Amino acid sequence: MPKTQKKDMKIKLIIIFVVLVIVSTIGAFVWFYNNEKVELLKDTFQFEYGDIVKLEGKDILDTTKESIINTFQADYSSLEIEQDKDYPKVGSYDLQIHYKINGRVENENIKIIVKDTKKPNFTKLPEKIELNKGFHLDDLNSYFEAEDLSPFEIKIDTEKLDSNKSGEYEITVTAIDKYDNKNEQNVKVIVKEEPQKSNGQTLNKQNQTIETKSTPYTVSSPRYVNGIMIVNKKNPLPYNYNPYENAEAGKQIRSLISEMQTLGFNISNSYSGFRSFDTQAGLYQNYVNNHGQAKADTFSARAGYSEHQTGLAFDLLHRDGTLVENRNEANWIAQNAHRFGFIVRYQAGKEHITGYQAEPWHLRYVGQAATDIYNSGLTLEEYLGVQGGGY
Ligand code: DAL
Ligand code: ZN
Repeated sequence: MPKTQKKDMKIKLIIIFVVLVIVSTIGAFVWFYNNEKVELLKDTFQFEYGDIVKLEGKDILDTTKESIINTFQADYSSLEIEQDKDYPKVGSYDLQIHYKINGRVENENIKIIVKDTKKPNFTKLPEKIELNKGFHLDDLNSYFEAEDLSPFEIKIDTEKLDSNKSGEYEITVTAIDKYDNKNEQNVKVIVKEEPQKSNGQTLNKQNQTIETKSTPYTVSSPRYVNGIMIVNKKNPLPYNYNPYENAEAGKQIRSLISEMQTLGFNISNSYSGFRSFDTQAGLYQNYVNNHGQAKADTFSARAGYSEHQTGLAFDLLHRDGTLVENRNEANWIAQNAHRFGFIVRYQAGKEHITGYQAEPWHLRYVGQAATDIYNSGLTLEEYLGVQGGGY
């Protein structure tokens, strides 16, 4: 082969080689560009019940590239949000997340687990309780209150306590929520020698315990059963109990009213809520003057016996000031009030238990227990297992 031809061949080979290198480099680059992927740091995320579920790209994508992190989006539509709240119910959810990489959208599935791991918090917990000999063990309920996002109950272990023998005892009070998160506390109970004159019991001359009627002048605190206040003709409030409107109950009744208005019901923003002992006394006296005591007792509470004195009861009114009792309104209230923490306290057919004629407009705030009570179909008396009926 002549020398020049050999040289041409060599140049051609070099060119082919260079072209191949360039093509494969571009090919590798294009391949890499289209297949670049980001791993997930984790595919399961746990949130505490009550926390808002909000995911951020930097917590999920294993990259530091802002150009990718900034395109991160999550589809929260599978989360079941609690009524009127912004956090999801306890449970496990599958969520889709998206991010863009080199203009291409990538989808991935992740798991969100929402757990309630927090124990109830005592909002009322005396270190020491002093009571007179012979008190009702049920009276202890009124000394404790707790709060929790999930339904809970307060259990009082009185096994070591003898309410008929003076001395110093220790009781264990446990607030336990639906998910078994427990807050256990020991409380000292001092049983004093002096006979108990209030809250339904006293001692006669032979030192035997006899039942006496509680009155607004003998009881020292409202009665609670399972953390729920009970006021009826057998369970009065102290005459000087004056809590005004309960803030949470007030907020919830306004939400309920607003929802009813949105649905087109003729409901007033005004309602009849908290009434002091004296206000109730005046109201009741008016009814007695106009209808006689026997009749008045079927629809109006005597002073000290009205749920309105608790700050937890509300009468819904029309815009013209009349009580809300039309069939449509009453049905809606009966079926929906529990979503706001209320029960319709006085139901038709239960007059012998509640002590009053039916009142579709009278709502009593019980908080989280409302749905359970609603589903049970029971009156508050039956649900709590306490006596009702007349005075
Ligand atoms: N109307 C209800 C019973 C009250 O007076 O509290
Ligand atoms: Zn009422």
